Amino acid sequence: MKKKIAVLASAAMLTLAATSSMAQFAKGEDAIKYRESAMALIGSHFGRMAPVAKKEVPYNAEQIKANVAVLSVLAQLPWAGFAPGSEGGESKDDVWLDPEGFKQAEDDFLAAMDKLTVAADSGDFDAFRVAFGNTGKSCKSCHDAYRKEK
Ligand code: HEC
Repeated sequence: MKKKIAVLASAAMLTLAATSSMAQFAKGEDAIKYRESAMALIGSHFGRMAPVAKKEVPYNAEQIKANVAVLSVLAQLPWAGFAPGSEGGESKDDVWLDPEGFKQAEDDFLAAMDKLTVAADSGDFDAFRVAFGNTGKSCKSCHDAYRKEK
């Protein structure tokens, strides 16, 4: 029993060590690649719902719910990639010059995502459509402020 506890404790410590070193990137360009990959996946899982919100494609509550569940995990990912010293990519320097503003934009987006999850879980199309639109606005307002124009 004691041995089992010791094994569990060291496994927990290993997990902690892995988690704290996971946030690190060896090079700035690794962080850029990471955040861009995460954003690209977010773009895919968000964008595929647009035809449903626009009523071009029938609403399938189960599909939307499953897709929003994936999106809400993806939504946690990009932020570690905006690491100190990883300026560049399509990010404006303001991400690093105005960390509070950027964090606020991130929090606004995550709050919109929480509402989108509630709406998707409810199975109500109109609730989904409104929450989808508001989430899209939170993407756009961060992009307007912190992403370079192409
Ligand atoms: C808090 C700020 C913020 C929010 C919120 C945000 N983004 Fe981004 N996004 C960025 C920044 C900054 C970049 C540029 C990253 C880089 O290249 O350094 C970016 C890049 C992207 C890209 C290009 C990725 C690539 O292939 O290089 C896509 C697609 C994207 N975002 C989609 C979305 C969608 C969809 C949402 C909302 C569901 C969203 N983003 C929410 C800040 C944000």
